[in-house]
Amino acid sequence: MRRSAEWYGGDDRNSYIHRAWMRRGLPADAFDGRPHIAMANTASDLTPCNAHLNEVSRSVADGIHEAGGIALNLPVVSLGETQVKPTAMLWRNMAAMAIEEMLRANPIDGVVLLGGCDKTIPALLMAAASVDIPAVVVPGGPMLTGTFRGVPLGCGTGVWQLSEEVRAGTMSAAEFQRSESSMIRSRGHCNTMGTASTMGLLAEALGMTLPGIAGTPAPDSRLLEAAHATGVLSVSLVDEARRPSDVMTRASFLNAIVALAALGGSTNAVVHLLAIAGRLGVSLSQDDFDRIGSGVPLLVDLQPAGRFLMDDLYRAGGLHAVLREVRDLLDPDAITVTGRPLVSYLDDAEVYDREVIRARETPLQPEAGIAVLYGNLAPDGAVIKPAAATPALLSHRGPAVVFDSIEDLHARLDDPDLEVTADSVLILRGCGPKGYPGMPEVSNMPLPAKLLAQGVRDMVRVCDGRMSGTAYGTVVLHVSPEAAAGGPLAKVRTGDIIVLDVAKRRLDVDIPDEELAARPPEPAAVAAYATPTRGWEKLYVDTVGQANTGADLDFLVGSSGWTVSRESH
Ligand code: FES
Ligand code: MG
Repeated sequence: MRRSAEWYGGDDRNSYIHRAWMRRGLPADAFDGRPHIAMANTASDLTPCNAHLNEVSRSVADGIHEAGGIALNLPVVSLGETQVKPTAMLWRNMAAMAIEEMLRANPIDGVVLLGGCDKTIPALLMAAASVDIPAVVVPGGPMLTGTFRGVPLGCGTGVWQLSEEVRAGTMSAAEFQRSESSMIRSRGHCNTMGTASTMGLLAEALGMTLPGIAGTPAPDSRLLEAAHATGVLSVSLVDEARRPSDVMTRASFLNAIVALAALGGSTNAVVHLLAIAGRLGVSLSQDDFDRIGSGVPLLVDLQPAGRFLMDDLYRAGGLHAVLREVRDLLDPDAITVTGRPLVSYLDDAEVYDREVIRARETPLQPEAGIAVLYGNLAPDGAVIKPAAATPALLSHRGPAVVFDSIEDLHARLDDPDLEVTADSVLILRGCGPKGYPGMPEVSNMPLPAKLLAQGVRDMVRVCDGRMSGTAYGTVVLHVSPEAAAGGPLAKVRTGDIIVLDVAKRRLDVDIPDEELAARPPEPAAVAAYATPTRGWEKLYVDTVGQANTGADLDFLVGSSGWTVSRESH
């Protein structure tokens, strides 16, 4: 029996109530057992990257109706990465929890998940995984390429670059502002290989989209065509009872890790994939990213590490063309929402621009992926994206310059008397899930103005927060446990020698272990941690896990399934 029939089937008082209030134009045969499919839609004017999804959902609805289903618009919590403070990540789990509850509570047989901006696709997938009803993603797609001074200006990445030019005195503030409207050329999410692009593409690599659609630019007519086809597909998905747990197996996650590396995707994908896997009970660890990903060549030349933008990737052949190059590394058994294996869609893929998508034999880097570091500074691990780093800094030894909060950093960074050289290691703590709270994207700290003026453009930086997927630099992220959860990062003092050795996968402070163990956390660090007393922030700080396991709330890990046993009247 369909889920919806538990509400609408029968002729008792409760089924009458469930049907009657839905009869606003719906004919009687809407309740004859055909699939009721929700469109979980993160469209919001305050999530500008997703504002076009109402139009996309109309195409999904057309497809659902065409295939004999009932399409139901379900607006869900949305998160505008650039708009909400202190960080959208604080509410990824809240959005996932709210969406999960509404998918379970309502009379639906399946769901089409419409997302785009960074946290929206992860939250939708976490929710769908915990309810485990048939689900398929429509990624909202990237913006078209904007240009400034005749050259492409990547979303996010361009902001970091131009703002450093202003600080270095090589660009005026007025010119900086002029670039604003050039960057955001159209509807859609950031067009660099940031978190939104990465998670849209990985949703497909996981098997959770109609094959071939991820990366379709938001204003492209083909996105609406794909949305329509996804609506049609969602009905067969319900008929065939194919659930997220059938599609997102360990094999699918390992395929996503290969894709992440070949694409040069965002470090944030590590946290999101771990959280989604946690909802499904799929065993996946941070080490899987290093073990599998670090042997994968970097094939896609996109900003922030490279040159091109998402529109170029689509033009050059898209995700399937990339995956075809690494086909031998993919698990052939991992299926997609269509029931067919992911690899079965790669035969026809072609690369149309070898500048954008490199051949396996001539990669941009032979070993991409994400490296996971351990050491006395990161007992539970930390990550670095070597592809976005300066090669010479990947093995480095230098004195720490410690900041206890982002405010402390902003107050002192440009002080001409700050004792710092290009060899220093900048440390920022209190930016983990509990400490900030919400693990913001602040790890790519700006460089001290006096060093910028000397021409320094990268330094080793270490932080327990995250970094925007559009950012770059030799930045060690996601240090676990974070300082606020008792991590040794809280004990480091300015002047301690920090040793980074990415080849050996080590991050240490050069202090004997006994001495480090005996040191108390620095009082100024402890004073800077968040101590919320009510509301979501309190629940979050009390129950959030560390980055190395996906930073989900402890009581949200796992699944509650779709069953609701009690009636509402
Ligand atoms: Fe929405 Fe970048 S701000 S994707
Ligand atoms: Mg971001």
